[in-house]
Amino acid sequence: QEVPAKDHFNRRLHDLRISVTDRCNFRCVYCMPKSIFDKDYQFLPHKDLLSFEEIEQVARQFVALGVEKIRLTGGEPLLRKHIEILIEQLARLRTPGGKPVEITLTTNGTLLRKKAKILKEAGLTRVTVSLDAIDDAVFKAMNDVDFSVDEVLDGIEAAYEADLGPVKVNMVVKGGMNDDQVLPMASHFKGSPHILRFIEYMDVGSSNGWKMDEVVPSARIINMISQGLSQLQMVNPNYTGEVAERWKYSDGSGEIGVISSVTQAFCKDCSRIRLSTEGKLYTCLFASKGHDLKPLIRSGSEAAQIDEQLNHAIRNLWSVRADRYSEIRTGNTIQPKDRIEMSYIGG
Ligand code: GTP
Ligand code: 5AD
Ligand code: SF4
Ligand code: SF4
Repeated sequence: QEVPAKDHFNRRLHDLRISVTDRCNFRCVYCMPKSIFDKDYQFLPHKDLLSFEEIEQVARQFVALGVEKIRLTGGEPLLRKHIEILIEQLARLRTPGGKPVEITLTTNGTLLRKKAKILKEAGLTRVTVSLDAIDDAVFKAMNDVDFSVDEVLDGIEAAYEADLGPVKVNMVVKGGMNDDQVLPMASHFKGSPHILRFIEYMDVGSSNGWKMDEVVPSARIINMISQGLSQLQMVNPNYTGEVAERWKYSDGSGEIGVISSVTQAFCKDCSRIRLSTEGKLYTCLFASKGHDLKPLIRSGSEAAQIDEQLNHAIRNLWSVRADRYSEIRTGNTIQPKDRIEMSYIGG
C-alpha cells in the first residue's frame, strides 16, 4: 500500500477537481465576460478533451495516492454529454482503505431539474449550485444571458428532492454589483436546509479586470447579517483545510459560510489539485502552466505501464509543489497575463 503524497509544505493530496468542459451557458461578468467570450472565442476542440475512460484512468491513480474527494467542474459540467456515465465510473473507485470516494459537482443549476435524479442514481454524493442574487434584475446582470432566478431555485429543489442535498449555494460577492443582495439572499435561505456561502471575488484569470476595491470582505458580510438579519455564531470546521468558514444562526434556523480567499487566504492547508478538460494538471488556481498528462495517456503503451507512469508523474509533481498564491497576493500584485481562467479550470 502506498503512503499518501505530501507536497513541499507537507500538505496532503486530498481533493481532485476535474473540469469536464470549458463551455458554459452563462456569461457571468466576473468569469466569462462577453467581451472576451464572444461568438469568435475558440473553445477546446472535441478531440482535445479527455474521454471518460481517460479521466477515470487518471482519477484512479489519484485515489491510489490519497484523494478521497472528487469534484466535477467546468465551465458548466452538466453541458458535457452523458456526464452520468463518468460519474458511474468514478463512483466505483475505492481508496486504498477500501472506502468509496466522495463525488461532488459544482453547477449553475440550470440543468438540474432535468438531470438531478440520474446524477444521484449514477452515484453523485451531493451538489453545489452557484447563485449570485435573489433579485431577477441583479441576477440577469450578473449572468448576462437573461437567466432567471426561479429556474435556478427550481434546480436547487430538484437536487434536494433527488437526495443530493443539503445543497451548498455559492454566491460570489462583487462590490457595486450584487452586494445589496447579501441580506435578501441570506433571508431567502434562512430556515431552509441549504447552506448559503458568500465567496470573495477573486483575481482568477486575466479577463475579469479584477480590482481589490471590488472585494467585499467576509468580515463585513458577517457583520451585515448579524446586525441586519439575525445573530450568528461560528461553528467548527467539518475537516482540516475546509475552504468555507462556518457560521450558524443563533436561533437555530440554519447555517451559512464565508469563503475568504482574498482577506484570509487558506493556502496553508490547501490539498487541492485540478485536472483540466484537456488533461493538464494544475497545483494552484492561479497557475499559468499546467503539467500535460496527455502525451503519457495517449502514448500507446500498455495500460498497466501507463498507470505506473501516471502514478509517478503525479507523485513527482505534488512532491515539489510550493504554491501559495493567495497568501502572497497584494492589491497590486503584477499579474502574469497568461494565468488560467476559471471557466477553463473550474472553481
Ligand atoms: P466542500 O467543503 O466539499 O463543499 O467543498 P468546497 O468548499 O471546496 O466547495 P467549492 O468547490 O464550492 O469551493 C467554493 C469556492 O471556493 C470555489 O468556487 C472557489 O471560488 C473557492 N475556492 C475553492 N478552492 C479554492 C482554492 O484552492 N483556492 C482559492 N483561492 N479559492 C478556492
Ligand atoms: N472569484 C470568486 N469566485 C468565482 N467563481 C468564478 N469566478 C470567480 C471569481 N473570480 C465561482 C463561481 C462558482 C465557482 C465555480 O467559482 O461563482 O461558484
Ligand atoms: Fe459559467 Fe460558473 Fe463561470 Fe458563471 S461562474 S460563467 S456559471 S462557469
Ligand atoms: Fe491552494 Fe493556490 Fe488557492 Fe492557495 S491560491 S488555496 S495554493 S489553489
